[in-house]
Amino acid sequence: MRTDYCGALSPALIGRQVALCGWVARRREHGEHLAFLDLRDHTGLVQCVVDGAAELRSEYVVRVVGTVRARPEGTENPNLPTGEVEIGDCEVEVLNTAEPPPFQLDERVEVDEMVRLAHRYVDLRTERMQRNLRVRAKVNGALRSAMDRQGFVEVETPMLIASTPEGARDFVVPSRLSPGQFYALPQSPQLFKQLCMVGGVDRYYQIARCLRDEDLRADRQFEFMQLDAEASFVSQDEVLEFISVAISAAVEAVTGDTVAEIPRMTWLEAQERFGSDKPDTRFGLELMELTEVFADTGFNAFKAPCVKGIRVPGGGDATRSRLDDLTDKAKRWGAKGLVWMRVKDGGQLDSPVAKFLSEAELAALVDTTGAEAGDLLLLVADERPAVRHVLGLLRLELGRPPVTEGGLQFLWVVDFPLFEAVGDDGSPIPAHHPFTMPHPDDVGLLDNDDAQALLDVRSQSYDLVLNGWELGSGSVRIHRGDIQARMFGLLGISEEEAQAKFGFLLDAFRFGAPPHAGFAFGIDRLVALLAGEENIREVIAFPKTQSGTDPLTHAPTPIDTGHLEELGLRLLPAKKTD
Ligand code: AMO
Ligand code: AMP
Repeated sequence: MRTDYCGALSPALIGRQVALCGWVARRREHGEHLAFLDLRDHTGLVQCVVDGAAELRSEYVVRVVGTVRARPEGTENPNLPTGEVEIGDCEVEVLNTAEPPPFQLDERVEVDEMVRLAHRYVDLRTERMQRNLRVRAKVNGALRSAMDRQGFVEVETPMLIASTPEGARDFVVPSRLSPGQFYALPQSPQLFKQLCMVGGVDRYYQIARCLRDEDLRADRQFEFMQLDAEASFVSQDEVLEFISVAISAAVEAVTGDTVAEIPRMTWLEAQERFGSDKPDTRFGLELMELTEVFADTGFNAFKAPCVKGIRVPGGGDATRSRLDDLTDKAKRWGAKGLVWMRVKDGGQLDSPVAKFLSEAELAALVDTTGAEAGDLLLLVADERPAVRHVLGLLRLELGRPPVTEGGLQFLWVVDFPLFEAVGDDGSPIPAHHPFTMPHPDDVGLLDNDDAQALLDVRSQSYDLVLNGWELGSGSVRIHRGDIQARMFGLLGISEEEAQAKFGFLLDAFRFGAPPHAGFAFGIDRLVALLAGEENIREVIAFPKTQSGTDPLTHAPTPIDTGHLEELGLRLLPAKKTD
């Protein structure tokens, strides 16, 4: 049917007879016997000059046979890659008619996302979606071959499983053959990949579908894909290397450039300098330590365990309402307040609180921050984690570039704490998952009865960050049943509960589990950043909306009573929503 693709036509092909297939993107009639037809396929558009186009409508599916020729002088279109040529002597065959499209397929027209998703099959015809799907396919291909080259074996793990503890809610599937029993859909292949290690697979990977019932955001969907990997008899450094190789291959497949050695930073340094465990290192505005400067202060707000600040170069022209807005935001993020100071000529500080600070404090502040005339200083005092958190968010608010700017700044964040907080029941909450090995230097601290002190225990876990997005996580695993049982104990998981939930893993560990470590990163997130998209929905062919529905298929939908009965289920009255 077809000899060429529309977007591939160029002056080099002038004189060639071509047969093209695609959709009518646009048609412009010039009298009865002359019309211009823009024909679109996934590679782009080309102009066809036809006799008449009365019977042709937008999005009709057509086959055009004609000859490539140069456009008459002065009619070239420099904005179109095929703009120097057109197809003449055209014969047009209508392969199918189409109803008028539900929205205009034009990059410049902003279309409501619900409408796009309800007619995703039309939306997929746009240049943007075609590009994104192809970026995604390239990434998948490159990841597969990079993992194959490194000796990893692709193993498929089941979708109907018992629960995996990744910290989100499970999606569950009722069992017909065992009424009243449920399968969980995997939040990740975590436990199965560890079982593969016990099974001697040595190096496992999978492009794995994961399901998590959590609130959706720009970087979160219910269903998403991971490049999931695990290896035996390896150290953390080797895992970082395997993953770096895969990441670099994916980036190269899309951009043509490899990734230089990815820098590493400890979790603590990331928190202190950027107020985040996923620092966006495309820009500065780092947090500065000011606790010492105010060690003996008489200003009540600064009598706190930690004072830090941000210097915004040239930010001193911020209006009062902007500063009030920043203060409101800081409070919403949990700050008790926000001190701002405009730096004037001669290092004078213009601030409502300057009068509460001593000359020596003001001088030390200018000195420590390197503040210059025209700058803005923003200071927060509180417990250390609270200060980091608020300033980390302020930093993003003040300086974060759009997703398409600043290149690709990858960063390994290592030495995460083993626990992220103490829960209401007094047990520590794992920062990663309960199979993570403590840092060898900190194992002794695990015997501490004080849950707060446990927060200082580091783990052998690591994250990969790209432009401020958490791309992936991994860890060296606990491979010994006794240490794992102790970990469950610390986490307040009773022996019975551990046995009920993960008994199969603990049992497996009794049959010769090798030391192992692994990693998984979100392919949707990587593809979004490579495609310059702010939302992973744009790189997923058929995503869910923010509220978790699919306007195309209308999922989720009710099922009939007969089906419910077969599953042994009865529904409660619908919950009232307000
Ligand atoms: P983790 O839970 O950190 O680790 O997930 C790894 C990566 O998966 C991506 N991701 C998501 N992407 C889109 N939508 C979501 N809802 C979503 N949730 C997670 C992120 C994240 O960094 N089994 C461990 C890995 C391991 O230890 O080997 C795990 O799943 O990019
Ligand atoms: P107050 O003494 O509460 O009236 O606060 C005086 C100024 O200090 C106000 O501008 C507050 O926003 C600010 N402020 C109060 N507490 C803090 C804090 N913990 N960190 C930074 N600024 C604060």
